[in-house]
Amino acid sequence: MTWQELELACKGCMECELGETRKNLVFGVGNPEAEVLFIGEGPGEREDELGEPFVGRSGKLLDQYLAAVELSRKTNIYIANMVKCRPPGNRDPKPGEQDLCMRWLREQVRLMRPKILVCLGRISAQRIIRADFRVTQEHGRFYEANGILRMGTFHPAALLRNPRQKPDALEDFLALQAKIREICERTYI
Ligand code: URA
Repeated sequence: MTWQELELACKGCMECELGETRKNLVFGVGNPEAEVLFIGEGPGEREDELGEPFVGRSGKLLDQYLAAVELSRKTNIYIANMVKCRPPGNRDPKPGEQDLCMRWLREQVRLMRPKILVCLGRISAQRIIRADFRVTQEHGRFYEANGILRMGTFHPAALLRNPRQKPDALEDFLALQAKIREICERTYI
């Protein structure tokens, strides 16, 4: 399956009831050939309207951190979410919805074969790294599984709520930059 075929199939997904209330499915944004994949939780209202991840206020903050380490959603990374459709009224996605939707993220990872996964926030990190992952204690560290390094950092929306964590988040992005320089070949050229 090609990336385009996967995106098309995903955009037609009606596996759970979120398909009935979404305006747009949010498949992801960026370069599908990137070596670094960022993984958020799921689309909010603005993302649902525009069909792109992290386009609200937290997305602007994310873009600033990315720019600080010469990463951009337009060129050298990909950004996706665990859950592709917005739960109505900003409720959390139900465990069953998450389980069903992970199939798409798994296919994205299989096709991209990224070297590094960056989990934005607890929900993503607890799925992708370890069920009891603690962002405040373990952010910025790299964990290897199945040949892919995984790192968890603060969700940008959490940084907006709690700006005191911003310096720690910048450290994480700097650690990411160093790791990319160490193991990636195409991200910084
Ligand atoms: N929060 C997320 O986790 N993902 C988005 O796409 C937007 C906000």
